[in-house]
Amino acid sequence: MPSTRIASALAALEAHRVEIGHRTIADLFAEDPNRFSRYQLRLDDLLFDYSKHRVSDATLAHLITLARAADFDHRRTALFAGEKVNLTEHRPAFHMALRNFSGRPMLIDGHDVMPDVIAMRAKVDEFASAVRAGDIRGSTGAPFAHLVNIGIGGSDLGPAMAARALFPFIQPGMSTHFVANVDGADLADTLKGLDLSRTLFIISSKTFSTQETMANARSARALVASALGEAAVADHFAAVSTKLDLVAAFGIREDRVFGFWDWVGGRYSIWSAIGLSLDVAIGPQRFAEFLLGGFDVDEHFRTAPIEENIPAMMALLGVWYRNVWGYGSHAVIPYDQRLARFPAYLQQLDMESNGKSVMRSGEPVQTATAPVIWGEPGTNGQHAFFQMLHQGTDPVPVDFLVAVDPVDSDAHHHALLVANCFAQSEALMRGRSHVEVEEILAKQGLSKAEIATLAPHKVFPGNRPSSTLIYRSLTPRMLGRLIALYEHKVFTQSVIWNINAFDQWGVELGKELCSRLVPLVSDAGTSLSGLDGSTAGLIAYRRSLQAGR
Ligand code: F6P
Repeated sequence: MPSTRIASALAALEAHRVEIGHRTIADLFAEDPNRFSRYQLRLDDLLFDYSKHRVSDATLAHLITLARAADFDHRRTALFAGEKVNLTEHRPAFHMALRNFSGRPMLIDGHDVMPDVIAMRAKVDEFASAVRAGDIRGSTGAPFAHLVNIGIGGSDLGPAMAARALFPFIQPGMSTHFVANVDGADLADTLKGLDLSRTLFIISSKTFSTQETMANARSARALVASALGEAAVADHFAAVSTKLDLVAAFGIREDRVFGFWDWVGGRYSIWSAIGLSLDVAIGPQRFAEFLLGGFDVDEHFRTAPIEENIPAMMALLGVWYRNVWGYGSHAVIPYDQRLARFPAYLQQLDMESNGKSVMRSGEPVQTATAPVIWGEPGTNGQHAFFQMLHQGTDPVPVDFLVAVDPVDSDAHHHALLVANCFAQSEALMRGRSHVEVEEILAKQGLSKAEIATLAPHKVFPGNRPSSTLIYRSLTPRMLGRLIALYEHKVFTQSVIWNINAFDQWGVELGKELCSRLVPLVSDAGTSLSGLDGSTAGLIAYRRSLQAGR
């Protein structure tokens, strides 16, 4: 019974923590001068350095035992075999088919999905090329210069993050914009300054019924109709969805509708036609490179043994800190400004996938699941929240991401950026002891009394773990690799926790209650009876201010 084996593997890890607890990361380096070369994994030029962790060979052996106890090999095989791993929705999670360049079929219930995938990719590419070349134009005959993707969650975060990451690869003269929030400010502020006659709207929604997206889509449609005439709508809108009937009802012409399939989860959909805005922006060739990056990692994850498997190792280190050390959050800090939205992207990927309290069986989980994922680019974060990372009471494991070479930026700036990145992981690891602080302050000529007062504030505990992902440069292929690494990390953790990473029932209750509140918020004449005191009070307060009382 796997759960008993998992429980005993976790108990062994607990006991091991007590054993290793007194050895700092610095001690581990002192014990083994080759630690950096032994605690790293490579995928071509991408290097995953996990030497700055509170782990020894024994720790890794225990973690691998845990993965085996959770039936990792079998569950990984099931994922790639198109089994219905999303148990509550009776679907596979088969986003790997969207970036499958192996020539091998990808079967669901014996049916190869690849011909449909390839045909849709060709349709998307053809449209993207025509928009880029100015063969498809707006209603006035002007070529498109602005792309506005309207979507939310997985239908926004992926393309928005990637368009920013790959900015140097975007066709000159083409600007990309992303509208997600139902707050009208998002659409209004985005459209300010855009020439509607040169704007292509892409409505991206797997379900084509998400409240925010449909509200924004209807408003954008009305704006285009009023500025350019009702007939112009057909020229200025395209849509990406699995619900082709709903798209047709919205009035988007058939040849501008791009489908995908229910086996593509929203937060895994950047690889599908949901990437249309990115495909138009960077072009089909670059988009294919991006897909290829995802495929590189699929091949690595599918075939590498656990101890050589980067996503599996990322996952196991996360489990070590989450379940054995009890750390509640995990920071992702790209020293790569263009990855500014990567942490937000990972929040959905990780927390919507693994923020669960029941196992696949429906029974309560036995361990803590998804930590809080957060982060901002370095060096900015250094001047904001790094104080807490260095001296706060809660250790936070960090992933640092950094490129060897900049794309399209100044080499001097890049050297400063890289030095900052390395300095931070070094500082987190080594810290500064009380004795060291005393020596420094004494050299500065402070009195004994002054030193005694000041020293405790200047001590860094150190021994704070981090990984570094270092890669040549942030190309489309590398971005594809980075995303897929984290996707499989999240999947591996779901295997250890025995949860379904591919549903998201936790978003439903708020949606339902919102539908019930919309009429009460919109119409001051409706009764608030039946609501809880706080919700009724908030609506009543809003009504009173609106009434000017
Ligand atoms: O509310 C959560 C969610 O369902 C996400 O999983 C999804 O990415 C997002 O909403 C958007 O959904 P859709 O693409 O169907 O509009």
